[in-house]
Amino acid sequence: MQFEIKLISNSKLDTINLASYIAKFLSKGSLILLTGDLGAGKTTFTQGIAKGLGINENVISPTFNILKCYFHDPINLYHIDAYRLKDQDHNIGLEEFIEGDGVCVIEWPIYIKELIQPNTYLKVNLELILGDKRKITISSNCLSYKNLFEELNKKYV
Ligand SMILES: Nc1ncnc2c1ncn2[C@@H]1O[C@H](COP(=O)(O)OP(=O)(O)O)[C@@H](O)[C@H]1O
Ligand SMILES: [Mg+2]
Repeated sequence: MQFEIKLISNSKLDTINLASYIAKFLSKGSLILLTGDLGAGKTTFTQGIAKGLGINENVISPTFNILKCYFHDPINLYHIDAYRLKDQDHNIGLEEFIEGDGVCVIEWPIYIKELIQPNTYLKVNLELILGDKRKITISSNCLSYKNLFEELNKKYV
C-alpha cells in the first residue's frame, strides 16, 4: 500500500470520532472497505462516517438487508454488509452503489471481491485487542487520499 497509518482507539466514541473526521475527506464515489472480526467495530465506524457526512439517521447493521441507503444532501451513504453473500450469487446489482454517486462503505468486502476494482478504495482494518481497545489500520493506494494521510499523521501520530 502507498499510504498506511496505524492507530489505537480506546472507546466506541474514539472510533466514531475518527470515522467522522475521515468523512470530511470523502466525496461522491468514495469507497471504504471495512475488515475485521465480528464485534471489531465496522458498523460503529460506519456510524461515524454517517455522522461526519451530516446524516442524523441511526445507522444500524444492514446484515439482514445487505444494503442500506441513507439519502442525504450533498452526499448519500450506501452501507453494504456482504456477510450474507458468502455462498450466494453476488450478481444482485450492488455495482451501482459501489461505483455510485455517494460514499459506499462495505463490511466483509471479501465476499464480493469481484465487484471491487483494485486501487479504488480506502481500507480500514479493525482489530480487537482487549476490552474496548481496537487497533485500526487505515491504508490506500489512491493518490487522492494523500491529504487525508498527511492530516491523520499530524493529528494522531
Ligand atoms: N474502541 C471501540 N471501537 C468500536 N467499537 C467498540 C469499541 N469499544 C467497544 N466497542 C463496542 O464493540 C461493538 C462493535 O460492534 P459493531 O460495530 O457492530 O462491530 P462489527 O460491525 O465489526 O461486527 C459495539 O458494541 C461497540 O460499542
Ligand atoms: Mg457490522
